[in-house]
Amino acid sequence: MITSKLPNVGTTIFTTMSQLATQTGALNLSQGFPDYDGPQGLRDAVVRHIQAGHNQYAPMAGLPALREQVAAKVARQYGAIVDADAEVTITPGATEAIFCAVQAVIRAGDEVIVFDPCYDSYEPSVELAGGRCVHVQLDARTFTIDWQKLADALSPRTRMIILNSPHNPSGALISRADLDQLAQLIEGRDIYLISDEVYEHLVYDGVIHASVLAHEALYSKAFVVSSFGKTYHVTGWKTGYVIAPPALTVELRKVHQYVNFCGVTPLQWALADFMAACPEHVEQLPAFYQAKRDLFCDLLAPSRFSFSRAAGTYFQLVDYSQIRPDLNDVDMALWMTREHGVATIPVSVFYQTPNPEQRLVRLCFAKREETLREAAIKLCAI
Ligand SMILES: Cc1ncc(COP(=O)(O)O)c(C=O)c1O
Repeated sequence: MITSKLPNVGTTIFTTMSQLATQTGALNLSQGFPDYDGPQGLRDAVVRHIQAGHNQYAPMAGLPALREQVAAKVARQYGAIVDADAEVTITPGATEAIFCAVQAVIRAGDEVIVFDPCYDSYEPSVELAGGRCVHVQLDARTFTIDWQKLADALSPRTRMIILNSPHNPSGALISRADLDQLAQLIEGRDIYLISDEVYEHLVYDGVIHASVLAHEALYSKAFVVSSFGKTYHVTGWKTGYVIAPPALTVELRKVHQYVNFCGVTPLQWALADFMAACPEHVEQLPAFYQAKRDLFCDLLAPSRFSFSRAAGTYFQLVDYSQIRPDLNDVDMALWMTREHGVATIPVSVFYQTPNPEQRLVRLCFAKREETLREAAIKLCAI
């Protein structure tokens, strides 16, 4: 009998809820992916590059043209000057970038601080490296960092902190003041950061995303991760990037080259072309998604769910205490899918120790207007 190295990992709730949505014919607002396609010009470019014979291995660090585009973008967005050769690595998805960053730094016995609720790939990556996650709960209402709790969680074994802003599942944002506070707290300590910024362009109400790339002190210890899948509505392409100072990039690439070696070649060519031809795509994203958030929230206003509008990401949390306070959130998600035709994600799955009183589910609003309207009719009828 094999002894599992990841005994606590089973089928994820994302797979379970998407399967249930398919079986029951429910609208799938559970897993985070759009029900519309990426830009036509981007898709055409992939076909063009496949036909042009760009079908063999890409360079291990990523296609130079794409790394240049990423460096140009972060200079425009954040004023961050990074070296495309020494600091930018293209990876098969943000997930691979996170995995490689963890493996590059974490040794047996190290502790990694994660903030609950947190994205599900962090902990298995840490466990496979022989490390241990220390879970620090975000404020239950605002999903902001409780600095005292973070200070209390730090130990001589703390080797890494994983940040995620804009935050999945809450949509909350880390501010520049938060980054300053974090920098103060870890100054002089041998602690590295992963800053998971896959929703960097999905920030609303005129707020500017506070990237770790723009914070000199934090960036010197950080792996900053993003995802073309989220930014270009092509989650199935599983293509992302990680930016880190040269010494950290060297170590990250040592892992990346034996996990996957390189990202998919024609996708990288297409992204490089499209980023050069259409830099305005990322500038238009906040308005594009804010319109979806506002439409969805306006439509949900007469419902019995209570919520405050997501500040970022394409997820909206809703509280169902007025509807079925008797159900925990997993049962609520199953009930909503089976009886009311809308699949959601229960927020408790993002916690090591869920609060049994919490009554929150996550809805994805990266959907066409007709899907959001249809979902809202069903949700308002509950
Ligand atoms: C917070 C967060 N990080 C990372 C990822 C993974 O991104 P990718 O699909 O590029 O691997 C996701 C995807 O849902 C996410 O929500």
